[in-house]
Amino acid sequence: MFRFKIIAADKKISYKPFSVSLKFLIDEKKLGDSLKNIERVFNVKVSALQRKSFLAKEGDEIRISKYDGKPDEVFISKVTLDDKFNPDYFRNHLAGFLPRLNKEEIRYLHIFIPKFEAFKQYFDDEEYFYQTFIEGIYYGNYSFDSYKSEKKDLKDLEISFYADNSKKLKNALKNAETVMQGVNFARDLENEPALKLTPDSFAQKLKSDIGKLGVKVKVFDEKEIIKRKMGGLLAVGMGSQNPPRFIVMEYKGSSRSKKKKISLVGKGVTFDTGGISIKPAQNMGWMKADMSGAAVVAGTILAAAKANLPLDIIGVIPAAENMLSGNAMRPGDIVKSASGKTIEIDNTDAEGRIILADALHYASKEKPDIIVDLATLTGACVVALGEFVAGLFTKDQKLSDTLFNAGLKTYDRVWPLPMWDDFHKQNKSDVADVKNLGGRWGGAITAAKFLENFVDSKIPWVHLDIAGPSILNDSSNYSKKYMTGFGVRLLFEFLQGSIKKK
Ligand code: BES
Ligand code: MN
Ligand code: ZN
Repeated sequence: MFRFKIIAADKKISYKPFSVSLKFLIDEKKLGDSLKNIERVFNVKVSALQRKSFLAKEGDEIRISKYDGKPDEVFISKVTLDDKFNPDYFRNHLAGFLPRLNKEEIRYLHIFIPKFEAFKQYFDDEEYFYQTFIEGIYYGNYSFDSYKSEKKDLKDLEISFYADNSKKLKNALKNAETVMQGVNFARDLENEPALKLTPDSFAQKLKSDIGKLGVKVKVFDEKEIIKRKMGGLLAVGMGSQNPPRFIVMEYKGSSRSKKKKISLVGKGVTFDTGGISIKPAQNMGWMKADMSGAAVVAGTILAAAKANLPLDIIGVIPAAENMLSGNAMRPGDIVKSASGKTIEIDNTDAEGRIILADALHYASKEKPDIIVDLATLTGACVVALGEFVAGLFTKDQKLSDTLFNAGLKTYDRVWPLPMWDDFHKQNKSDVADVKNLGGRWGGAITAAKFLENFVDSKIPWVHLDIAGPSILNDSSNYSKKYMTGFGVRLLFEFLQGSIKKK
């Protein structure tokens, strides 16, 4: 872990002692020539052995220590533009690279962003191409270690980026910083154990950290939740000693012209035991991150407020802990949601949709232009799409395309699943208006169709099931160890796009 400072450097390079340089070379026919060029520029000598393996298919890095210093070390990294290259390459690479320097006495890191030309086909703009490098640094430096008694001392590191277009580099730096603050905020919340992150402490945290950015944060306690007839949130929350909260964040962007109003809704289950329909023990600890949807909503609003986006955003978070106790809801119970619709609880582990029913109803009443909800909603979605892709559900083809493309760009990827009304019948109940369980097949879809019952059908709405990519997984260098904050980069990109398309 470093205490780092990032600089958009000028072309003039001034090396100080304890410097490391990182240079990328694109694998092409003239790779040998490029290597020679680097030897000349950095005044280094690549050994015959290094050269041979670098030029071979498998070799991808040369690390040269310089005895005459300035820089002390040069890393030459080979980038192969084959079918394995993707827009996440540099983000992922730097996320893996930075921790490797942890044990070094390094003070200065110089990173040379290669020319955009060769990467045009993978990125639609040069600025964002730069941004991915910088985001990689933030990811590489992330850790959740506040509970470690032995504190690793933070070393100061000055990171200079060099790129062709210095104006674009400066913008990329600013954007990366803003969005990564949002990502890290979300990750910290996701990784925080439920012992400490209860519905109320979650609410208080948002009140202070988001509130201080000029965002209005309202918190409804259990009395207010009863008054507002949010029977779903109440039912899920009543099994826990830690009472539920309903949190609303209202960000108003400044702008003279008419602004878009977007509602972001996030599932905030601070811990999901499954309730009386208890979960198996294996990996139950992951369920401390069952509030990832809420964390991502908060992180996105934090980034939006810091960036002063000219939009109105309403963040809506139903927060509850799904526990078992003498007060817990039971299978067979019927509860009345804020919309007036009654829900038969067939399985207490399908709790996310019950609290989201109240939240989506609340969001609809605010009459936004768009509603996007995010939830670690179903294991079925992970079965369908794997660990690193979120399920995308909407009847609005344009919104679907927009989010799909934002996913490809940011690499917070989403994939559409069907929303045909045929699926409604699986949620039919004989004793209530709807049932919270849709049977064995198509579980991610029936969950989405359940939610649809509580959204005003006149408002374009997207549901994102982030159960897979929120949880730590092996798919990248930056998702391995900790909960991921998946969705903040996607939503921030989506919000930025919503401004342009006024
Ligand atoms: N929070 C879980 C879904 C989940 C699973 C999130 C894995 C992250 C990783 C959700 O509340 C749940 O338990 N869903 C059940 C629904 C079922 C009872 C219909 C599931 O997926 O098994
Ligand atoms: Mn559950
Ligand atoms: Zn859950």
